[in-house]
Amino acid sequence: MDTQNTNAAANIPANIAFPTSSNSLLQRPEETNTFIIFGASGDLTGRKLIPALYNLACDDLLPHGFSVIGFAVTPMDDKTFRDNMEQSIKKSSEANPYDARIWNKFAANIRYITADFLSPEGYETLRSTLGEVERANDAPDNRLFYLATSPSFYADIVARLGEHNLVTRNATAKKEGWTRIIIEKPFGHDLTSAQELNEKIHEVFREEQVYRIDHYLGKETVQNIMAFRFANSIIEPIWNRRYIDHVQITAAETLGVEHRGKYYEEAGCLRDMFQNHLLQLLSIVAMDPPVRYGGSSVRDRKADVMKGIVPINPENLAETAVRGQYGPGIVGGVNMLGYRQEEGVNPDSKTETFVAMKLQIDNWRWADVPFYLRSGKRMPNKVTEIAIQFKRVPHLFFHLTPEDQMEPNILTMRIAPDEGISLRFGAKVPGPEMHLRQVQMNFSYADAFKVEPATAYETLLLDAMEGDPTLFNRADQVETAWGVIEPLIDIWSATKPFQPFPNYGAGTWGPSGADALLAHDGRAWRNVAALPAARQTSVHVEATGEPMGARRSKGDNGSSIGVADGNGDKKAAQDGQNQDAAKGGRSLA
Ligand code: BG6
Repeated sequence: MDTQNTNAAANIPANIAFPTSSNSLLQRPEETNTFIIFGASGDLTGRKLIPALYNLACDDLLPHGFSVIGFAVTPMDDKTFRDNMEQSIKKSSEANPYDARIWNKFAANIRYITADFLSPEGYETLRSTLGEVERANDAPDNRLFYLATSPSFYADIVARLGEHNLVTRNATAKKEGWTRIIIEKPFGHDLTSAQELNEKIHEVFREEQVYRIDHYLGKETVQNIMAFRFANSIIEPIWNRRYIDHVQITAAETLGVEHRGKYYEEAGCLRDMFQNHLLQLLSIVAMDPPVRYGGSSVRDRKADVMKGIVPINPENLAETAVRGQYGPGIVGGVNMLGYRQEEGVNPDSKTETFVAMKLQIDNWRWADVPFYLRSGKRMPNKVTEIAIQFKRVPHLFFHLTPEDQMEPNILTMRIAPDEGISLRFGAKVPGPEMHLRQVQMNFSYADAFKVEPATAYETLLLDAMEGDPTLFNRADQVETAWGVIEPLIDIWSATKPFQPFPNYGAGTWGPSGADALLAHDGRAWRNVAALPAARQTSVHVEATGEPMGARRSKGDNGSSIGVADGNGDKKAAQDGQNQDAAKGGRSLA
């Protein structure tokens, strides 16, 4: 086992400063720490953690004396681990461009321990390595552990850390040093296992030391939901059942299960996306105003939402939730395998790769307002968005013709891509007569702020170093979220899908049952494929066909600058990209 610091960058003068990005809105933590990654040879470390740390290094946001210790069973020495991580940086689309000087300085403080997660020797090696690193630092012994292993090891690793006295039960101590632990999702496999895991963790760590990560909470656009709702006086008064008809949350991915077939077979879409990301989005959209940002305030208000979710009624499942699994199909012009043909997947798999569900929140603000959530793999587009559909006006006094459009207002918060917010509203078409059209007012992050937002992991790792748990999940939140989806897990594992799997083709918007779910309520899913890209803070006309009475300017072909191509829906439907486009219903986006 090689735990020596083979310091590939020993010749780098200590006084090289990392460049400071004037773009960065984040702040460097005052206190240093050692970041210990369990499962360091795994996918997450190279794909997310090291790129995030490297980006922080590029922006001079890592504390002085910061070190990384990788801990995993794959035999490697320090140099090999560093070389592998260097390759990850070069390949990563999330990492800043490779800069040898920055990398070498950062890499000089990376070490690797080859060890079994269960054997005592590895923890003793970890103790001595920490001793070396911390002595050299002449600073309090702050330790930030990160569990990036298979979840089946979480409880054992935590117990070993306790047995080997590697944890001080202190989350903030300035003098003696603090210990914190970040735990990746999935946190448990169901409610019982999550409760058991929480109990085991609390034998070693206090709750204030535990940071259960959900990367959606680190996304700038997700944090901005709070800013949008609570920093603007015109929004909060209309954010309730009096004005809002329903909410749609979509997290659609073009990706399949990639090389994660084995994991996904156990998880499925409910556990992989709903128990965490989608319920988190829902609770931020629906929460009451917190007293302050930070402390327990935000998390308390989010927890209230989760507690108010009406339990899923097994008697009424067809009107509540729909599951799907993709078969072969075409995404972006490329032929894709069906889920059952993917690596590591059972050829008769019953695992769902798509879920749509309707949830209700039983409280003063949201009674009778449905929240429709859907997420799936191998959809036609990568889109994560929240759409708030407002109620219709009580009385429309215009003489409308069939060409006129007067649909309810929709406020769309685009989480990714084309991050931004847009509002659809009705406007008079220029001309002598009164004709109405939908127009779209768009705000785009890229144009408004001119900065590349930090990745979710950068934000969250810095928050954990700073000791700010606001964007992490608390024990009770994780358990309540399991409580919400557990009835579905139980029913679905005991019954066959209503529509036999596979029931949607790769490159489509999921099984027809998902449309029926909303049609039953007289609604339809938003056509997320046809949104005009929110590229300017301006007003675009989202028109369909020539409005009666509209005057054309010279050379106007109906899609001039500032006017969105109104045929988006039709084109999408013709291309077979979007089943929703061809459908009617109350929700026309
Ligand atoms: C992860 C899931 O948590 O989130 C993946 O395990 C999914 O299956 C991913 O692809 C989606 O994240 P994002 O940020 O790309 O929407």
